[in-house]
Formats: sequence, structure tokens, C-alpha cells
Amino acid sequence: MGEMIEFGRTGLTVSRICYGSWQTSHRFWGHLPREDFVAAMRRAFEAGVNFFDTADAYGDGLGEEIMGEALAPLPRDRIVVTTKVYHHFYPDGHRHPDLSGAYIERECEASLRRLRMDYIDVYLCHAFDPMTHPEETTAAMEKLKKAGKIRSYGASNYTVEQLRMARRFGDYAVLQPSYNLLERGIENDLLPYCLAEKIAVMVYGPLCKGLLTGKYSGEEKFEDLRRNNRRFQGEEFKKTCEKVRGLKPIADRYGLTITQLVLAATLTHPAVHCVIVGVKKAAQIEEAAGAMGKKVDREDYFAIRRALEG
Ligand SMILES: NC(=O)c1ccc[n+]([C@@H]2O[C@H](COP(=O)([O-])OP(=O)(O)OC[C@H]3O[C@@H](n4cnc5c(N)ncnc54)[C@H](OP(=O)(O)O)[C@@H]3O)[C@@H](O)[C@H]2O)c1
Repeated sequence: MGEMIEFGRTGLTVSRICYGSWQTSHRFWGHLPREDFVAAMRRAFEAGVNFFDTADAYGDGLGEEIMGEALAPLPRDRIVVTTKVYHHFYPDGHRHPDLSGAYIERECEASLRRLRMDYIDVYLCHAFDPMTHPEETTAAMEKLKKAGKIRSYGASNYTVEQLRMARRFGDYAVLQPSYNLLERGIENDLLPYCLAEKIAVMVYGPLCKGLLTGKYSGEEKFEDLRRNNRRFQGEEFKKTCEKVRGLKPIADRYGLTITQLVLAATLTHPAVHCVIVGVKKAAQIEEAAGAMGKKVDREDYFAIRRALEG
């Protein structure tokens, strides 16, 4: 197994690198071969990753279906699966927020069917639904937990105030926020709050959609969701790529790739339990898994932050 960590108060033990499956979503990432995802998920487990992240909304069920197929041959008690609810989606492709109790209960059953599992380890509210009282949402989560359909629950993309309010009604034990070394805003609010409240944190986007891997020169053009993202365009894109590539001497000293150095450094923050890496191919998760157990010392950690600033 890779580097493992007790996942807050959930009672779960997870690898610090978590497999991210948003890349199965055609809407954002284009059509990629299903067999590549299945192979990557199985390779992840062999490489010491026992933690897998998906959502009902990834490909409107497709992400969970692929994960269900990939993980079916693996021992269920040795893998930990996160999925999410919130985007109420319809066959014609439209969707709207929905954290109503009735929808959560119905959608949890649908997720379990697609995942071919009889429980979900971590069930997350994918975002905050302003039209449902958190008391109702939380009651549904507690009911699912009592029924053994989920083992723990939490939230994603909540602000501190939203999380604080939700926690008045039940035990939100996990938070999934966006965080990487280029976008560190939550260090000022969510991360201290989670540390104080012993909430397990699994951050998404640790490689800033690939920008922090060092593989881009700044000349690339994208056909996927990055096409409309300013970070991936013009001078800003080129400058960031240069800064990221500037990390190579530090990575070399640790015998790591830039990707691995960035992941290991991100895991240094005391509030961060795990990083979720978005994966398209087996080689990507294999490389990411190589960051587990690698410690970046304080001086280098701040040198990395400085190099990426400005
Ligand atoms: N809760 C939420 O709202 C939410 C939102 C977003 C994501 N997530 C979860 O978090 C996961 C990760 O987030 P993310 O996909 O936004 O960002 P990410 O992990 O920062 O970036 C993923 C991209 O990095 C590249 N990559 C990954 N491993 C690589 C490697 N070893 N070498 C080179 N390139 C590599 C791939 O780029 P290429 O495409 O260029 O190959 C991949 O598409 C998602 O899959 C999903 O499970 C959750």
C-alpha cells in the first residue's frame, strides 16, 4: 500500500493520493476511451491507491458506471469510494441544484446501482443548494448512514459559513474543496476551520488541471474545458509554465518529477489529508502515486511557493 492516513473522524483509512474520475465526463473533457479509465483505476490500486473519487454528475452517471466496472474485481473492504449528489440531471442534458431529502435518497440508490456497491464510504453534497434547508439535507444523510448505505458524509465547494451552518444539524466529517499551490485562498478560512474541527480534507485540482505538471510550454491549444480558461491562454499561460518548469532543480534533488514534487508539497499542509488527482491514463496515476511518502522540507516548500508567486 502507499502512504495511508486516518481520514479524520470517519473511521476510514485512505491513501494520501486519491484517484479522481471527473475526466470521464464528455461534457468537460471530450470523449476518451472507457478502457483507459478502467485500466487506470485498476493500476491505481496496484500502485497503492485505495481511495477513489467520483460523482453522479460526472458524465451524468457514466463516471460511476465506469468506476463500478473497474473496481468490481477488487476487494470492497480494501477500497474507499467517494461520490456526490447535487446536480439533478435529466436525459435531455439539463440539470439544476437539488439537495432535497427525496432527491438525495433516490439518487443514492441510483449511485449504488451504477457503482455495483451496497454502500458508499463518503457521500458528499457536491455544492451548496440555496433552496433547501440544510436541516432537510442533513436528515437525509443521517437516514442513509443509519441504513448502512453510506458510512460518512460531508460537503464540497461549501464556504466556511455554509459548512458551519450545515454542521449545526449533523456530522459533516469531510470537506472537498479546490486547492493547489497556485490557488491557495482557502488557507485563510476553510483549512483552519477544518483543522480546528477535525474535518477530513480531500482537495481537488492539485495540479491546476495539468498546469502544475510542468508538461506544457505555454504554446498548447486546448479543445476541452481549458479552451475558455484564462490560465491556459496567452502571456499568463506562458509565464506560469515557465515558473512551473523552474521547479525542476528542486524536484531533481528529491529524485521526483515536477508533478510528484507539487503533490508532495501540497500534502505538506497540516489540514490536507489527501489530494485528488484527475486521471486519464494509468501512467498518470502511477506517477502521482510515486509522490506518496515523499517529504518536502520547510525551506524547499516555501521556495516552491515563492517560485510560483508573482
Ligand atoms: N468536488 C468538485 O466540485 C470537483 C471539481 C473538480 C474536480 N474534482 C475531483 O478532483 C479530481 C482532480 O481535479 P482536476 O481534474 O480538476 O485537476 P487536477 O488533478 O489538478 O488535473 C488533472 C489533469 O492533470 C493532468 N495530469 C494528471 N496526472 C498527470 C501526470 N502524472 N502527468 C501529467 N499530467 C497529469 C491531466 O491533464 P491532461 O488532460 O493534459 O492529460 C489531467 O486531466 C477530479 O478528477 C475529480 O475527481 C472535484
